Parts: sequence; structure tokens; C-alpha cells
Amino acid sequence: MRIGARRARPRPSPEGAPATRPLVRRAVEVGRPHGPDGRSHAGAPGRPRSAGPGRRRFVIDVREVTKTYQLGQIRVPALRGITLRIERGDYVAIMGSSGSGKSTLMNILGCLDLPTTGAYRLDGIDVRQFEPDELADVRNRKIGFVFQTYNLVPRATALSNVELPLAYAGLGRADRRARALRALQAVGLGDRARHQPSELSGGQQQRAAVARAIVTNPALVLADEPTGNLDNASTAEILRVFGRLNASGRTVVLITHEADVAGRAKRIVTLSDGLVTTDERVAPVTGPPSREGLR
Ligand SMILES: Nc1ncnc2c1ncn2[C@@H]1O[C@H](COP(=O)(O)OP(=O)(O)OP(=O)(O)O)[C@@H](O)[C@H]1O
Ligand SMILES: [Mg+2]
Repeated sequence: MRIGARRARPRPSPEGAPATRPLVRRAVEVGRPHGPDGRSHAGAPGRPRSAGPGRRRFVIDVREVTKTYQLGQIRVPALRGITLRIERGDYVAIMGSSGSGKSTLMNILGCLDLPTTGAYRLDGIDVRQFEPDELADVRNRKIGFVFQTYNLVPRATALSNVELPLAYAGLGRADRRARALRALQAVGLGDRARHQPSELSGGQQQRAAVARAIVTNPALVLADEPTGNLDNASTAEILRVFGRLNASGRTVVLITHEADVAGRAKRIVTLSDGLVTTDERVAPVTGPPSREGLR
């Protein structure tokens, strides 16, 4: 049974990230140095506030992260101490058996949830610095999400669905239309822009979801089993899109149960019982994705 998939967890609204407020106050506070305890030291005087180039190389920097869910009297330790750094431009597949903590980790990486303990720096910024609405703004600007179940708004056209993150970002209507159409064309759906989700195949719905994820031009694309519901042909189409995204410099992190999907990535990380158990470099971070990712 797919245990985790059935639980009620924090999810973004279908459109990804409702926020219009610009990221101002805390964005200038990036790069607070970690102390020996791994925590940032916000008030420390005389410390540099900008993230150094070394740190910025890692778009994701997770240290000793735990997540424990509290279900009444029962504590469920989903993550038990994850340390994971992901370089800009990498393409990482996260694997592991059902219940191993993959979605829990992805929710934290995507700022949909916060760790119970441990530190997470996204693009050099300690996510604990943010208020909830600021986190929503960070999500909207930096991250594109793709979910196994697409999460499209049912009675809206593909175009409207893809426009939504741009509306939250405050873009005008004409700009939104033009950019959303370009994103749909990029995933091969230019001729389906006026279709509602129910008028699209599963693979097409997922491509629309990918278009929505990339329309804001995010540096990081996170996908939780994006091909889990798709047949081979649709899976290949989605993987081609991810391969192109990665080749154009985006960092891609995807969860998958399928070895051939993971085989397209440049690095494969396996979780087991809330811990990283294997971490394999398949192809260099720079350069094209592994194997057939570009085809
Ligand atoms: N909201 C929640 N409340 C309580 N426990 C949860 C919650 N979400 C997940 N869990 C538990 O945390 C553990 C990790 O769940 P998670 O969804 O991260 O697994 P997963 O690796 O994504 O699994 P799957 O491959 O089935 O999607 C599981 O034991 C699950 O039952
Ligand atoms: Mg999951």
C-alpha cells in the first residue's frame, strides 16, 4: 500500500504558491554563517550577510533534518537525520520504498513544510527566517512543483492553469497569456491551450502541470512521482521535458519508483526508513543529463 500517498499532508494550492508580496525584508539576510551547532546566528554582529559563492553553489543544503509527525499520542518519525546538498544544475532522482520519507523530504525541500529539527538552506537562505507568506513567495519565485496527480484546476483551461502562478506574481494579463502559451508550447501543448483538464489525456495533463511549474522560470523544479500515473509514451515525453529543463540550467529533483526514470538523472539518492542510504553520481553535474534525457 502506498502509505504516504494517502495521508493528509500540507499541499500547496493547485496553482503552486499564492502570494503577491515581494520578498524584501528577509532576502537581504541571506548567508548567515552556520555555527558549530549547524544553526544560523541571526544576531551575530559583524558577520557577512551575503552568501558566499561556495554556499550558493548548492541550491539545496539540508543538514541533519528530521521530521516527526504527531498523530495524537503517536509520534511518527518520517525523516531521521537527512543531510543532502544539491548543486545548481544537477538532476537528482530520489528513490526508496513506500513510506521511506521521500514525499516528506520533498515537501520540506519545496518549503511546503518545515523540518522538526535540522537546517535547510534554499539557494543560500535559511528557510526558518521566513514568515509563512514569505515562504509562499519564495516558492512562487524559486520553485516549480509537479505532482503525481497533476493538481490542475478542473474547470479552467490549460492556459488559465498555467497562467495562475504568474497572476500571483502580479503580472499583467497580456504578459501572462504570452508567457503561459510559450510554456505550453515548450511542453508540446500549444494546440491544447483551450482544453480543460478533463479534455486532456493523462500525459497531456501532466505536461500542462509541468508548463505551470516552469512558467515562472524557477531555478528549481521539484517533482513527486511525476510519471507515476503515466504510460510509457507519456513518461518519455515528460522525461524529455525534464531533460531539456536541466540542459537549460534548471536544477531538477524528482521522486520516482522506476529505475529507468531514475536512470535519466545525473545522481540517484536512495532513502530508507527516513535516512539516506545510497547516493550515486551517474553523470557530471555540468553537461547533458544522463542517457536519453535530451532526446
Ligand atoms: N501527515 C502525516 N502524518 C503522520 N504521518 C505521516 C504523514 N505524512 C507521512 N507520514 C508518515 O511518514 C512516513 C513517510 O511518508 P512519505 O509520504 O514521506 O513516504 P514516501 O516515501 O513518499 O512513500 P510513497 O512512496 O508511498 O509515496 C510514512 O511512514 C508515513 O506514514
Ligand atoms: Mg510519496
